[in-house]
Amino acid sequence: MLDAAKRLLNPSLRSDVPPFIVMDVMAAAARIEAAGGHVIHMEVGQPAAPAPATAIAAAQTALAGRRIGYTECLGIPSLRARIARHYTEAYGFQLDPARVVVTTGSSGGFILAFLAMFEPGDRVALANPGYPPYRHILTALGCEPVLIETSAQTRWALDSERLLAAHRKKPLAGVLVASPANPTGTMMDADALSHLIATAEGEGIRVISDEIYHGLDYAFPAVTAVSLSDRALIINSFSKYFCMTGWRVGWLVAPESMVRSIERLQQNFAISVPTLSQVAAQAAFDGRDEMEAVKHGYEENRRILTEGLPKAGLEKFLPVDGAFYLYADVSRFSNDSHDFAKRLLEEVHVAATPGIDFDPIHGKDFVRFSYAGSADEMRDAVARIKRWLVR
Ligand SMILES: Cc1ncc(COP(=O)(O)O)c(C=O)c1O
Repeated sequence: MLDAAKRLLNPSLRSDVPPFIVMDVMAAAARIEAAGGHVIHMEVGQPAAPAPATAIAAAQTALAGRRIGYTECLGIPSLRARIARHYTEAYGFQLDPARVVVTTGSSGGFILAFLAMFEPGDRVALANPGYPPYRHILTALGCEPVLIETSAQTRWALDSERLLAAHRKKPLAGVLVASPANPTGTMMDADALSHLIATAEGEGIRVISDEIYHGLDYAFPAVTAVSLSDRALIINSFSKYFCMTGWRVGWLVAPESMVRSIERLQQNFAISVPTLSQVAAQAAFDGRDEMEAVKHGYEENRRILTEGLPKAGLEKFLPVDGAFYLYADVSRFSNDSHDFAKRLLEEVHVAATPGIDFDPIHGKDFVRFSYAGSADEMRDAVARIKRWLVR
């Protein structure tokens, strides 16, 4: 083939984003299971529970009505109104439904938010460690992710001082905060979050707040950035608290001035968000008892792990504030978390995610455990890890 013709087969440079290593762990776990092994899955960040019964019933009714057409691009109006009401119920904040945009999971929300807020070349600050798609989506869109180191002093969250230092080096256009965060499970309290937002906005840095793990807060109540600034853009989802990962439905709360731009982007990218999922999402708000029971299950899992892991040899981990993650320091046993996770899986069939997925700098010392499974699985996992590490 001629060189010119061969080049036609090359993917674009911007599509050259790194893979998600957790997917490799999942594939290895599947091979063990295919050979008859019993794997405890603590690698994937998704609830083991199904969507609330109210959501499933609403979807079934909608399906029986047969016609599933497009919806309004910004989302079904009654769902947008219900999401707005959720802010009154959960945070005591009156939100105008006109600021709510329904999206295809929070993942779809990131693309809309980054495009609406940033130009190519813009620098956007992110906490390190952090959720990998933040930096990979930004890179694919031509923006520059700027990783800012976090530490125990700031509960592994971004802080104003380090944000300003990065901004002074080379101006930032934006900052993304997450509380509770993935992979650390740590949270920012109201003071820390409001200080960071005030500092950023005072410097003309736009703020995005990923609130996907709200509802799953144990250490103290999560604060929504919408109540702290009407210039911040909030991203949320039905995937975690609402147990609806596969339904692919989430939402944004955007500054009023950006809603029309976001609408035009979504009109072109997606037309609308899957109708069945939107109908189910609205009904999910009526399944709160079920979701609270799931949350209480996570609290119990959290107790089992925070009490059990130190006895199993893993004494050092970050504050287990929220979401369903425990981020453990495994450097006592290995300086290669990928190898540690591989052996943990192969030798005692516990699947966990190596920290290098989330932190290119120190991730080799950490492993993330997801505790979204059952209490029995957590007890079994602690026993297996103990057998493996404490010989
Ligand atoms: C911090 C964080 N944000 C966003 C997402 C994306 O979730 P979804 O697209 O299902 O809403 C995840 C998924 O694990 C996550 O951990």
